[in-house]
Amino acid sequence: MSDKLHEVLIEVNGKARSGAVPARLSLVDWLREELRLTGTHVGCEHGICGACSVMLDGEPVRSCLMYTVQANGHRVTTVEGLAKPDGSMSILQDAFCETHGLQCGYCTSGMLIAAQGLLNTNRHPSEEQIRDTIGGNLCRCTGYQQIVEAVQLAAERMKAT
Ligand code: FES
Ligand code: FES
Repeated sequence: MSDKLHEVLIEVNGKARSGAVPARLSLVDWLREELRLTGTHVGCEHGICGACSVMLDGEPVRSCLMYTVQANGHRVTTVEGLAKPDGSMSILQDAFCETHGLQCGYCTSGMLIAAQGLLNTNRHPSEEQIRDTIGGNLCRCTGYQQIVEAVQLAAERMKAT
């Protein structure tokens, strides 16, 4: 396998980040290992669990299925980028805490990315739309009900902003 490195310039959570990466380095490994953004988790590593979800140009994607070079020139948002500029939690993150939408937290960053992606385009999602959105993210702990309630609570609060 070629060990040639490729230059990338990627906007991550609003900051330009550059590096030289092997062609087959996954985006999740670059984010975690090089940038130390460890809020994005690695679960199945083949696109099933959703733990590695990040936004690419505002759309949720599985960062275990992407090579870093494919993100070159694009905008990536990780769970760390969902917080408010002062570092405090977003409306959605607060809602997850309040409704007990997490237990071990392994799925949580992916759930937040999926839910934020929905709320960015739909401020009034139905329960069915919320369930459909998080349906691609696996959670071993919560039974999903509190996660649905968290998204509903966040949507309610966002209406007032
Ligand atoms: S680690 Fe990417 S979908 Fe499971
Ligand atoms: S809170 Fe444990 S996997 Fe979802």
